[in-house]
Amino acid sequence: MQLPIGSAGSQVVGFGHFQPRDVVTNDDIARLVDTNDEWIRARTGIVTRHLAAETETVADMAIKAGRLALADATVDIDQVDLVIVATTTAADRTPNTAGRVAHALGAGAPAIIDINTACSGFCHALAIADSAIRTGTATTALVIASEKLSAMTDWTDRSTCILTADGAGAMVVTASDAQRISAVSWGSAARMVDTVRIQAPTDRFEQDGQSVFRWAISEAATHARAVIERAGYTPDDIDVLAAHQANLRIIEPLAKKLGLEHKIVLTDVTESGNTSAASIPLGLSKWWHAGRIPEDALTLLFGFGGGFAYAGQLIRTPIRRLTPQVATVLGRE
Ligand code: UT7
Repeated sequence: MQLPIGSAGSQVVGFGHFQPRDVVTNDDIARLVDTNDEWIRARTGIVTRHLAAETETVADMAIKAGRLALADATVDIDQVDLVIVATTTAADRTPNTAGRVAHALGAGAPAIIDINTACSGFCHALAIADSAIRTGTATTALVIASEKLSAMTDWTDRSTCILTADGAGAMVVTASDAQRISAVSWGSAARMVDTVRIQAPTDRFEQDGQSVFRWAISEAATHARAVIERAGYTPDDIDVLAAHQANLRIIEPLAKKLGLEHKIVLTDVTESGNTSAASIPLGLSKWWHAGRIPEDALTLLFGFGGGFAYAGQLIRTPIRRLTPQVATVLGRE
């Protein structure tokens, strides 16, 4: 059996994101259900969230995030031979969202894959792109997560409607001589299969919030630390923590348990709420484009949620194209 020739590694070369225009405050939510700004901020850290218009689809948001990522990477859509979209909230079964994205962006004939591992979806998608590139199955991947949780939210249930939000995030991944995306570390907690649900016939987001919260506080750090160790690093080496943006009361203790509380800790949940699979690439892209994430930063991605699935990997953020002189000085030709 002959294996195609791949590459030594893969790398993230661009970030993109999209958030719907409507910003909804906690006071707005308090007009729908019996809650208040103080409770929501204290229990979740969430201050605002973006909600899609009725006609705005998961694919619409994915296309916009993908387009920005390609522009950021200065990669032409013609080069993309793999499109992966992580989503749990797409309304259609087929065509899948990746197919819609590829068509709308004018891609040639890429492989198109949707994956559904809920909130950890983006980390699973990135792992598939990385291994496709390293084994020579693909050369350039557009990896997107897009969610319209608002369409699956019971807006009379105060235990869930305070959390959910819409948006998309994307990364462009290409071959690299150096390994700039680590091997994924992934798994699941079978006993918790029913803790997060969007099930027929209601198709409404429901969860046993306290079980998920307990798991996140007691077990997530062990799995996140395994990601770092598997890649041959220690927490000291990490520059940025980008964990699933579910709740600030989960993100902050996780950072502390990992000894990363003084590093850059992504806390976009405060502005964007919980966008499930999209939360990690969406938040990272926002902070990248705002200049809050440095170049070449060793960044820990860790997602967890419905399934009950978790996955994480390390990435190095892109190194911008430098003038030949500067590149020589920095040894980055
Ligand atoms: O992304 C998928 C993965 N999911 C997660 O990561 C979610 C993890 N879990 C959580 O983030 C938290 O469990 C929640 C934010 C969902 C809930 O926070 P909590 O501190 O676990 O609250 P709770 O469910 O224990 O409720 C405490 C109290 C209850 O009242 P009583 O029984 O103590 O009188 C609730 O009825 O707060 C009440 N409550 C509310 N009060 C005001 C529940 N929701 C609200 C609300 N406003 N929106």
